[in-house]
Amino acid sequence: MKPSLSFLLALLFFLGQAAGDLWDVGPPLPSSSSSSFPGVDSGSSYSSSHSSGGRGSVSQFFSNVTGFVDDRGTCQCSVSLPDTTFPVDRVERLEFTAHALSEKFEKELSKVKEYVQLISVYEKKLLNLTVRIEIMEKDIISYTELDFELIKVEVKEMEKLVIQLKESFGGSSEIVDQLEVEIRNMTLLVEKLETLDKNNVLAIRKEIVALKNKLKECEASKGENAPLVRPSPTPGSCGHGGVVNVSKPSVVQLNWKGFSYKYGAWGRDHSSQHPNKELYWVAPLNTDGRLLEYYRLYNTIDDLLLYINARELRITYGQGSGTAVYNNNMYVNLYNTRNIARINLTTHSVAVTQTLPDAAYNNRFSYANVAWQDIDFAVDENGLWVIYSTEASTGNMVISKLNDTTLEVLNTWYTKQYKPSASNAFMVCGVLYATRTLNTRAEEIFYYYDTNTGKEGKLDIVMWKMQEKVQSINYNPFDRKLYVYNDGYLLNYDLFVLQKPQ
Ligand SMILES: *[C@@H]1O[C@H](CO)[C@@H](O)[C@H](O)[C@H]1NC(C)=O
Ligand SMILES: *[C@@H]1O[C@H](CO)[C@@H](O)[C@H](O)[C@H]1NC(C)=O
Ligand SMILES: *[C@@H]1O[C@H](CO)[C@@H](O)[C@H](O)[C@H]1NC(C)=O
Ligand SMILES: *[C@@H]1O[C@H](CO)[C@@H](O)[C@H](O)[C@H]1NC(C)=O
Ligand SMILES: *[C@@H]1O[C@H](CO)[C@@H](O)[C@H](O)[C@H]1NC(C)=O
Ligand SMILES: *[C@@H]1O[C@H](CO)[C@@H](O)[C@H](O)[C@H]1NC(C)=O
Repeated sequence: MKPSLSFLLALLFFLGQAAGDLWDVGPPLPSSSSSSFPGVDSGSSYSSSHSSGGRGSVSQFFSNVTGFVDDRGTCQCSVSLPDTTFPVDRVERLEFTAHALSEKFEKELSKVKEYVQLISVYEKKLLNLTVRIEIMEKDIISYTELDFELIKVEVKEMEKLVIQLKESFGGSSEIVDQLEVEIRNMTLLVEKLETLDKNNVLAIRKEIVALKNKLKECEASKGENAPLVRPSPTPGSCGHGGVVNVSKPSVVQLNWKGFSYKYGAWGRDHSSQHPNKELYWVAPLNTDGRLLEYYRLYNTIDDLLLYINARELRITYGQGSGTAVYNNNMYVNLYNTRNIARINLTTHSVAVTQTLPDAAYNNRFSYANVAWQDIDFAVDENGLWVIYSTEASTGNMVISKLNDTTLEVLNTWYTKQYKPSASNAFMVCGVLYATRTLNTRAEEIFYYYDTNTGKEGKLDIVMWKMQEKVQSINYNPFDRKLYVYNDGYLLNYDLFVLQKPQ
């Protein structure tokens, strides 16, 4: 069915309000009854009568109507049209235009409806969140400033997203405006909160993360600024041309021991047999920045976020934050030695120890900014690696592929990169990537060494960070994320890889 013109115009008017920029018909949208209509003479009696749309115009148009009842009781009416010839061609043009417009309108309306629906869902969630924060506001339990810092960071991030969304809507959607106000309000609320239950804060943070992701999706669904290289090729595969970028960090949480535990490592176990299995580990060093004594394991990311259902273990022999976990085994440098060990994460006992031949240790060639990490384990699609230096290499990075069961060295590569001038390193598909510090806000992936080809070279990929120093970087091939320990905060980055041409 074809909508009537006045209906169409009313809707057009609404659309103009709701999504001005979505409309791409040339002339400006009608904002009053006398404005022009595409393809129709605005001065003609037809357009003015139609576009004014009401009953008044009809009587005005057919103003010269006379009626009377004749002798035989029949009602007689005569009408004088102001124009002598009926402008059929104009009506046809008008109908044609109306048809074209209604089609275009349907298309645009369905788009707008889609966005509006999405936004109203987020709006509800945000409201829910606000209500819950208000409830929490009344609680008086424990308060940790750090958790608030995290919430503030996340809310800020969300605020930015909404502003972006708003811009892409041409700044004219009431709903997005509302969303923005509510997020601002939430920021204020969070700032005002002084007494809070810790677990509630974390639950809220979890929701914020989810909300943020959905906002991102909404943004991406507009298709205009879709991220360039993700998601294919499939994670876990090496059919790509190497790392080309990293996302901004997302703050997962503060390590469970707190703010003063600035040194450590964290990550997600990678099992080549069960790649989608979840096992997260967090290993903050003691405050001396050297002894690895306690670590925690979580079976889901939710448990980790809420600090619940953790298995906490104690060892007395770990050194530095070069730890990695692969196939349910944790690999560590043994305290005060060049020995390395495999800890079975089912039994939590040392399954194997080996000496890493010629490896320098005890701060002979650790990374810049991070002590006691002369021996740094790495996991990638191909298995277990160790990054270290030797006296013979004069401090340059040496990469060895290890047998992850026996810890025997399978193969070794010698790079030209001095290890103490890099801040950290990780492996992806047999390629070593090293970082260096640009400033207090950013690191840079500046160097690579490809063990597949023996080639090495420069890169300039900026990695934003929360805090000044990066203590460790661990890569998970399944979710293709970096797990970074940043002065006590646990950060996540998505890696972007170069897609090979088909
Ligand atoms: C109505 O018609 C009569 C003649 O039929 C004419 O004299 C008069 O001016 C018309 N009135 C209007 C308002 O057009
Ligand atoms: C609000 O949050 C509560 C608690 O998580 C949940 O049970 C409820 O379904 C949420 N409501 C909406 C509309 O999202
Ligand atoms: C934002 O907060 C102010 C004052 O706290 C309140 O009056 C206003 O209604 C809030 N707006 C929304 C959209 O929640
Ligand atoms: C790399 O990623 C960052 C963060 O997502 C983005 O701001 C930047 O534009 C990207 N750089 C390139 C060259 O794609
Ligand atoms: C760890 O120990 C358990 C129990 O002894 C054993 O079943 C499992 O195979 C071990 N895992 C590895 C990877 O050696
Ligand atoms: C590691 O060593 C074990 C025992 O010698 C052997 O069975 C296994 O195949 C080796 N794995 C690799 C990847 O070389």
